[in-house]
Amino acid sequence: MASRSRQLAGLAMLLLPAVLCLQMPAPSRAQLQVGFYNTTCPNAEALVRQAVTAAFANNSGIAAGLIRLHFHDCFVRGCDASVLLTINPGGGTTEKDSPPNNPSLRGFDVIAAAKALVEQSCPRTVSCADILAFAARDSVNLTGTNSFYQVPSGRRDGNISTQDDAINNLPGPNSTADSLITGFARKNLTAEDMVVLSGSHTLGRSHCDAFLFKNRERLASGTVSPAYQALLEALCPPTSGQFTLVTTEIDLSTPVVLDNNYYRLLPLNLGLHFSDDQLVRNGTLNAFVNQFIADETLWKQKFFAAMIKMGNIEPKTGAQGEVRLNCSLVNPASSSSAGVIEMPLPDNDGEVATS
Ligand code: HEM
Ligand SMILES: *[C@@H]1O[C@H](CO)[C@@H](O)[C@H](O)[C@H]1NC(C)=O
Ligand SMILES: *[C@@H]1O[C@H](CO)[C@@H](O)[C@H](O)[C@H]1NC(C)=O
Ligand SMILES: *[C@@H]1O[C@H](CO)[C@@H](O)[C@H](O)[C@H]1NC(C)=O
Ligand SMILES: *[C@@H]1O[C@H](CO)[C@@H](O)[C@H](O)[C@H]1NC(C)=O
Ligand SMILES: *[C@@H]1O[C@H](CO)[C@@H](O)[C@H](O)[C@H]1NC(C)=O
Ligand SMILES: *[C@@H]1O[C@H](CO)[C@@H](O)[C@H](O)[C@H]1NC(C)=O
Ligand SMILES: *[C@@H]1O[C@H](CO)[C@@H](O)[C@H](O)[C@H]1NC(C)=O
Ligand SMILES: *[C@@H]1O[C@H](CO)[C@@H](O)[C@H](O)[C@H]1NC(C)=O
Repeated sequence: MASRSRQLAGLAMLLLPAVLCLQMPAPSRAQLQVGFYNTTCPNAEALVRQAVTAAFANNSGIAAGLIRLHFHDCFVRGCDASVLLTINPGGGTTEKDSPPNNPSLRGFDVIAAAKALVEQSCPRTVSCADILAFAARDSVNLTGTNSFYQVPSGRRDGNISTQDDAINNLPGPNSTADSLITGFARKNLTAEDMVVLSGSHTLGRSHCDAFLFKNRERLASGTVSPAYQALLEALCPPTSGQFTLVTTEIDLSTPVVLDNNYYRLLPLNLGLHFSDDQLVRNGTLNAFVNQFIADETLWKQKFFAAMIKMGNIEPKTGAQGEVRLNCSLVNPASSSSAGVIEMPLPDNDGEVATS
């Protein structure tokens, strides 16, 4: 008895550091929490803000890029920074290299800069998924007056990133009202959330292939302003494809201001994408659009809440996933294989080579 309990006590002593390690970052009910890094990295949010503010000073368009980066992260395998991976450990094309993201997604360098600052201050503590969520919030703050919301954090980073997941989960610019509503519902977001979050299109840019050809069909049905389409035709090379880098601002008049101008453009047949225009072709969705045109403050309040809700999509918490050391790569399987990413090949003895 005594010896058995001593053994158990010894075992507990041995396991204690590991158990603490595993449990320290784990919230009790695996929920995200505002101020998750209060004690482990009190400067985390300030450091991310510093990196985002510097990038914004250089190029204000980056705010839009960072908000979209968070969205494209969250809709694919949850908010787990899978969108940042440049290599999928299981092989194949990554989310980052998929048509919905490549070459349009931007802000990767800003996340890397933020991660570098954070790692310097508190190594191996702050996940890339949380950095994405903070950076999106800071982008909202930089583009909008009175625009700040608290971001629950404690997300952990995933280790799978595939092109097919991106294609199957990210709404495309040709989407109908019906498929937009269904696609958001699959993420537990309502039709109203969808309209509210689409308001981010008051910021940023779009590439020709996302709107040029579909809008020729809209011309025929009278749902795009002919003058606007003529302008877009003049801007875009007639053979625009995925890798044509010509862009236009989605909200031409105030592309760096988080206002309700996006909604105001829609009833004027000035929505850039077919998917944007769909919001005023369905009575249910159009009612939300009219509400947000009438009350910008209401939209912003709903926007902050919806961003938080989007940031809560299938988070990995506690002992799930990992805190990536480099946001582009999953951590090496063990310290002995640090930096090695290739699958070890069996040598002549049939043993696994380790160097
Ligand atoms: C409702 C379905 C949505 C569709 C079909 C859609 C589609 C698109 C497309 C095609 C672009 C242009 C990308 C490019 O060619 O550069 C774009 C840009 C953008 N989207 Fe969406 N989007 C949707 C929802 C959202 C949501 C929910 C958010 C954020 C919460 C968002 C934020 C943005 C931002 C900020 C940009 C500008 C990006 C930049 O300037 O780099 N979008 N979106
Ligand atoms: C972190 O501190 C803030 C401000 O005092 C507080 O609101 C928040 O609840 C704290 N979060 C945690 C997880 O301790
Ligand atoms: C500044 O922005 C430009 C694009 O406008 C980009 O090419 C460049 O890398 C940025 N520089 C820094 C230091 O972020
Ligand atoms: C990803 O991580 C999970 C558990 O964290 C593990 O079971 C799985 O093998 C990993 N997948 C890859 C492709 O590394
Ligand atoms: C958010 O932006 C406003 C300016 O619009 C600024 O006064 C405020 O300090 C910012 N909040 C935070 C926490 O950075
Ligand atoms: C949606 O909510 C259900 C019920 O709470 C949950 O099981 C599911 O994982 C959620 N899906 C997403 C994508 O968040
Ligand atoms: C959208 O539709 C247009 C015209 O039918 C087509 O040329 C384009 O490839 C489609 N884009 C996407 C992303 O499906
Ligand atoms: C809007 O679209 C949804 C989803 O397709 C549909 O259920 C609803 O009836 C439409 N509402 C109106 C008023 O057109
Ligand atoms: C992270 O990994 C990428 C891709 O291998 C590499 O280019 C970059 O230099 C690494 N960053 C750091 C800080 O080591």
